[in-house]
Order: sequence, then C-alpha cells, then structure tokens
Amino acid sequence: MRFVLPKGRLFKGSLEILRKAGIELKPPENRELMVKNGRYELLLARAFDVPVYVEYGIDVGIAGSDVVEERKSDVLVPLELPFGKCRLSLAMPKENAVSVEEMDGFRIATKYPNLAKKFFEKRGVEVEVIKLHGSIELAPKIGIADAIVDIVETGNTLRANGLVEVEKIMDVSALLLVNRISQKTKFKEINELVLKIKEVVKDES
Ligand code: PRP
Repeated sequence: MRFVLPKGRLFKGSLEILRKAGIELKPPENRELMVKNGRYELLLARAFDVPVYVEYGIDVGIAGSDVVEERKSDVLVPLELPFGKCRLSLAMPKENAVSVEEMDGFRIATKYPNLAKKFFEKRGVEVEVIKLHGSIELAPKIGIADAIVDIVETGNTLRANGLVEVEKIMDVSALLLVNRISQKTKFKEINELVLKIKEVVKDES
C-alpha cells in the first residue's frame, strides 16, 4: 500500500496517527522523497499536491481540508483527523480594516484562488485575486494587495505583520484521503486502516 504525506506542518501528526494505527512509516534520512517500509511505501509531497497524488493513483493520503477544497480533487474522504486544526480567513491591515461588502475592487493575495473567488462571489463583491505561493502576509504589508485569504492558526503571523482577521471563511482540519479505485481493489486493507484510525481518534477524544 502506498501513502502520500505532506512535508509541512501536518507531517509529524500524520506519521503519528498512522503509527498509532499500527502503520510504522519511517521518514527518509536524506533528501529522498520515496521510502519503502516493508509492505508500505511512503511518498513525501507538497501539501497542495497530496490530494492530486491520491486522485491519480496513490492509495492513501493525509491533507488539510483547505487544500482538498481548493484542489477540488476527486478523492474519498472517509475520516476527519484530530490535528491540523486551523482556519482559512480573510485578513487585512489593521489601520484600514473594512467589512467584506466594502471590498469591491480590492486586490486579494492568496494561495487559495478558488476558495477566495468563491467566497467573494457568494457575497456579490467583485475583487481581483492574485495567487502567491507563500509568505502571503507580505503582500498587503508592502502594498501589492489590499487583503489576504490565508491560514490562521495561532494568529501570530497576522499580528506580527499588523493584520487583523476580517472574517473566517472555513474551519480547517487534517483529512484522511483514499483513492477511489484503491477503495475497491484494496477494500479489506483500506477498510481495516480506516477502522483502526477511527479507534485511535475515539480513544483520544
Ligand atoms: C502558514 C500560513 C500563515 C501562518 C499562520 O504559513 O500561511 O502564514 O502559517 O500560522 P499562525 O497563525 O500560527 O501564525 P506557513 O508557515 O505554512 O508558510 P508559508 O507562509 O510559506 O505558507
């Protein structure tokens, strides 16, 4: 069975929940992106690409609900996992904070163009969305965007850059992802895995 895990902030929690469910995956010691662990194979990918790998053939993955929604990947989501909790929010510089309805014509910087566009469309507010790949908080600080749509966990990055949250767009959590074909061809193995993780989650709550 092949697993794809995100290299960033969800990596440790992902390895840990799988270990508790009886699946020991050793992270690679060098820059390798694929390691074999007996019957299992571990692939390391960028967080935004995990749902794509699962959609196109990797059996199981773990990714945040933010990237799953943004990528709109066709994957099965049998379980929400009890880590990676944060939120996707709209934020802007403290000194000129306004409500969403007053943002017509604003330029929004984000790693989540689809979710940002959907949010503003629903509110009937026309904005320009520019996609960046990280350090989003920099964009309004130096004036290339009026506001941002980004992940907030502790709120430290917003505070450190003089930004305030205007609205929460969605709650985010880690999710277990399963490839649609694998769910059929490896039904027993995947079902056992999902049940074991469910038990771990239950015991911890
Ligand atoms: C994420 C996110 C924020 C920050 C939020 O960035 O994009 O910048 O963490 O966390 P906080 O509320 O606890 O401060 P990440 O560290 O993943 O790196 P990035 O900026 O390169 O996306």
